[in-house]
Amino acid sequence: MSYQNIVHSINILVTSFTVPSNPKVQEEVRRMSSQKDKEMFSNPYFIDCYYTPKTKEQKEKELRAHQEYKEEISSLPLQQSLQQRPLRLYKGFWFHEIILPGILSLHHHLHPTPSDIFLATFPKSGTTWLKALAFAIGTRNPYALLSRHPHDCSPFIEGFFSGPRLPDLDVLPSPRQFATHIPYSVLPNSVRDSPCRIIYLCREPKDTLVSTYHYSKGMHRPEATPQPMPLPEAMELFCKGLSMYGPVWEHQLEYWQESQSQPDKVLFLKYEDMKADPEANVRRMAEFMGRPFSVEEEMNGMVGEIVRLCSFEKLSQLEVNKVGVRGKEFGLAIKNSSFFRNGKVGDWREHLTEEMAEKLDAITQARMYQSSLTYSND
Ligand code: A3P
Repeated sequence: MSYQNIVHSINILVTSFTVPSNPKVQEEVRRMSSQKDKEMFSNPYFIDCYYTPKTKEQKEKELRAHQEYKEEISSLPLQQSLQQRPLRLYKGFWFHEIILPGILSLHHHLHPTPSDIFLATFPKSGTTWLKALAFAIGTRNPYALLSRHPHDCSPFIEGFFSGPRLPDLDVLPSPRQFATHIPYSVLPNSVRDSPCRIIYLCREPKDTLVSTYHYSKGMHRPEATPQPMPLPEAMELFCKGLSMYGPVWEHQLEYWQESQSQPDKVLFLKYEDMKADPEANVRRMAEFMGRPFSVEEEMNGMVGEIVRLCSFEKLSQLEVNKVGVRGKEFGLAIKNSSFFRNGKVGDWREHLTEEMAEKLDAITQARMYQSSLTYSND
């Protein structure tokens, strides 16, 4: 048995025997720990497992393609982002230079299956929460999150394609769940045209900015700049769209419009609504994912358990989410804890001046003009 399998077996044991608050749910979870779930947990979720061995010719071909993507990218407009990382303008959006080869590669190599679910967000809109919820709904085993960081539940698809090696996604159990920050118009046609489904989580732009600002401070590299960027400066860049995957407004609008014209394809959720009524939104997600809760599950309190285990209060206190770093494959060391700050709606009031808030609201209004998209904490 490989080390990975041993780790996963321990995972199953830990998650099966961690005592949930509700004994009925515990019973249900045991019952649901069917062969399918076991297969899911013993399957690889970590980066190296996606890359199957290749022949020398295949490797050379992939390397050549990667070089070509990099050459194409090098001619795109370049700017510094509020994250103090180089961004390139591609199809109207700003992307981190290291991620763009992955996006170009996806256009050639991603073949979604109809059962695939894509979890799409603008960064700092609650991706971590969405991943946890989708994983818990899909597996019906929220207790696995006690020992697994939400970002280890579904890979960022553009990240997996950004290196010279093409990943083998067929090793993943079906239904596969992927995360992405790619704007709708930049998604590969294969995703837009296939019957796979997309869940988009939108967050009010002022809170998104504040969350982005704090997260970026955590990623500050003293060797690049002596001081982290002050908030007013970060806001100026954010307003110009100079933030990873920016501008936020167009990002949200594109998914909003698709959710209106293709409700079976795109489910549009709002962070603020999820905070106000998480159970209703978990049910919506489950229906959309083709995994509605049975009467038995409802009676056993499964929805409440998923909400509780995926809550900010619960996840942020777990050891697995408090220690360790990720992003090494991109030369980054992002603390696992940095995905959990305070998870509040309206936290911008603590950070933005009245003038800053008015400016952001004015931009939002101008961009959303003639759109029916509104924010719940206005
Ligand atoms: P704040 O910085 O406002 O606290 P992302 O996951 O897209 O990187 O977004 C991070 C934001 O989501 C952070 O917001 C973080 O605290 C919040 N968050 C993380 N887990 C959450 C959860 N379980 N419930 C609600 N918000 C959560």
